[in-house]
This record gives sequence, structure tokens and C-alpha cells, in this order.
Amino acid sequence: MTTNSSATLERPKAGSATSSAPLLRVRDLTTRFRTDRGTITSVDHVSFDVAAGETLAIVGESGSGKSVTSLSIMRLIAAPAGRIDEGEILFEGQDLLKLSDAQMRQIRGNRIAMIFQEPMSSLNPGLTIGKQVAEPIQLHQGKTWKEAYQDAAELLARVRIPDAANRLNTYPHQFSGGMRQRVMIAMALACRPRLIIADEPTTALDVTVQQQVLDVLKELTRETNSALILITHDLGVVARYADRVAVMYGGRIVETAPALPLYGEPKHPYTLGLMASIPRLDGDPHQRLVPIEGQPPDLSRMPPGCAFAPRCKYAIERCRAERPPLTDVGAGHLKACFVEV
Ligand SMILES: Nc1ncnc2c1ncn2[C@@H]1O[C@H](COP(=O)(O)OP(=O)(O)O)[C@@H](O)[C@H]1O
Ligand SMILES: [Mg+2]
Repeated sequence: MTTNSSATLERPKAGSATSSAPLLRVRDLTTRFRTDRGTITSVDHVSFDVAAGETLAIVGESGSGKSVTSLSIMRLIAAPAGRIDEGEILFEGQDLLKLSDAQMRQIRGNRIAMIFQEPMSSLNPGLTIGKQVAEPIQLHQGKTWKEAYQDAAELLARVRIPDAANRLNTYPHQFSGGMRQRVMIAMALACRPRLIIADEPTTALDVTVQQQVLDVLKELTRETNSALILITHDLGVVARYADRVAVMYGGRIVETAPALPLYGEPKHPYTLGLMASIPRLDGDPHQRLVPIEGQPPDLSRMPPGCAFAPRCKYAIERCRAERPPLTDVGAGHLKACFVEV
């Protein structure tokens, strides 16, 4: 024990023992719904990490479990039909599944913010943009109305809304879709969250506007060193934003890798199929796009083996009998597939 004052100053703060651990660590997350077709497993033993400053893209066709994954992290799965049955969601070393509702409310919108696809459903059409952005700042940060209003103007300028200060008095319907989504980003960032979950934030926008909005989102998360989970059904959109990609199919992660190897050398037939079905930004404009044949799996009647086997041209007998586990094939590249493609 030392009484040296500099040693006292350098004493680690509570919680910093876990500072090298990822900001978010999801382990075996399993979320089920009781439906009239029986119990379905929408998210099935999903595990991933996101570090501070990192962008994880979660990609997969509609119905693959992306939104249920993000709603589970936010603990917004509506009981009693929906339930998180298994797993851990460690955020800053704390299991969110063990927190009380009141503790979770403190984290939601504050430490973890969410941006949804349809900004119109999250914005109040009857209130000015300025009021809607300033209010949570005043509430959470104990600022005066004037200060909060100034912060709101700054935030809108940071998401590059032209003439931001003068647009505080306008209403959501006076904004374009892209501008409304920028307002949502500004609102999500207002409380300086450590983690932002953006669920198909630009799906309703045209490609150019999508890119502008994602550029702003990426730039601001980089500046604030916050983590970003970017959810999309479009593998093409996220290529330039993700550090790591997780591909979901039928409620499971079937492949995950750092973005470059995932795009350069996809190892799961489903990922290959997704790649062939999207236009490559760097590709030949006359390339032929090949959609994946067949339908996504019916979660109420999952096959015993690989969920993708019925659509997979590489499938062997084993694929239909046995479920392939997610296995490390080297350099942080994991795939759930028995076949080499
Ligand atoms: N509240 C709910 N009740 C019953 N089933 C649900 C509910 N929410 C989602 N699901 C089902 O869970 C599966 C995954 O949905 P979701 O995560 O929304 O997919 P996506 O990847 O398109 O975001 C789908 O089959 C969907 O029908
Ligand atoms: Mg969704």
C-alpha cells in the first residue's frame, strides 16, 4: 500500500477493470414468441461483441431476426407473447437482462440510443423540430430551455441540416425523408450514447440520400467513439461503413467476419447468394443480379438441419440432418456451414 499521491490519482475507477472488454457482449441471446402457429424462435443463440468506436453491421433478408435482436438489447420485447428466454447482454460489463425496468429506462435513450426506419412514426407531427430535439436535452442534461435550444441548433448543424438555426421552428412534414432521418440521428446523439442501434435507418430513402445520411451517422459515431450497430437487409449499403459484419438467417448468425474478408471471401452459401443478388458499388454496371431462389424459412416449421439447406445448391445430406455450429475458420472469420464453397 502506498500513500504516494500520484498513485492515488492513477487508481483505476470502479469498473475500469473491464475497460479492455468490448462495450457490448451478447452471448447466446434467444428470443421467442408465442404465436397462434406455436412458439417461434426469432433469435436463436446469437452471440457477438461490439467494441467502443466499432461499427457492426447485421445483415439478412426480412424476417431473419435483426429487429428482434435489437429490440432484445433494448429490452423492448413485449411480454407475455415475446420473451428473452436465454442469454446475456453485457453492456459496459453489466447484464442488461438482470436490470430492473427502472434501471433499464436510465440506459435506454441515454447510454444506448436507437434509430428506427420510419422517422415519421418517432417524430411528433404537431411539435416543431426544435422543441423535439431540445426537450430531451433539457430533461436529461438539466439545462435551461435556452441552452437546450442552442444545443439543438448545434446538433442539427452537425448532422448537416442546412440553415439549422432557422429550421428549429419548422414542423416534421416540412422536412424531406432524408432530413427527418438526420433529425432522428441528432436526437439519438443528444445524450451522447455509448452505443447506437440503427435499424434499417435509411431503407425508405433513395440511394444517394442513404449514403449521405449514413456518412453523417458514421462520422459522428467516429467523433464520439461510440459503437454502432447498423442493421440492414441490404449487404451492399453497409460495405463502406462496417468494421465487422454478421449475417443472419432464420434467427441465427450464419457467418461473421471483419468487413473486408466477408466481402472479399464470403464463406457461407447464403452470404454468397446475398452478394450475387446486390449491385456491387465497385462492380460492372452491366453485371447480372441473381436473386436467391426459394423462400426464407418458416420459423414455426424449422428443419432439423441447416435452415438454409432447402435453398442451398451446395447442400449435402449432413446439412439436412444436422445443424452446423458457428465455427471459427481463422482470423475472426466464423461460419455455420459444413461445406467448403
Ligand atoms: N411481436 C411479434 N410476435 C410474433 N412474431 C414476431 C414478433 N416480432 C417479430 N416476430 C417474428 O420474428 C421473426 C424475426 O422478425 P424481425 O426480427 O422483425 O425480422 P427482420 O430481420 O426483418 O428485422 C419474423 O418471423 C417475425 O415474424
Ligand atoms: Mg426489421
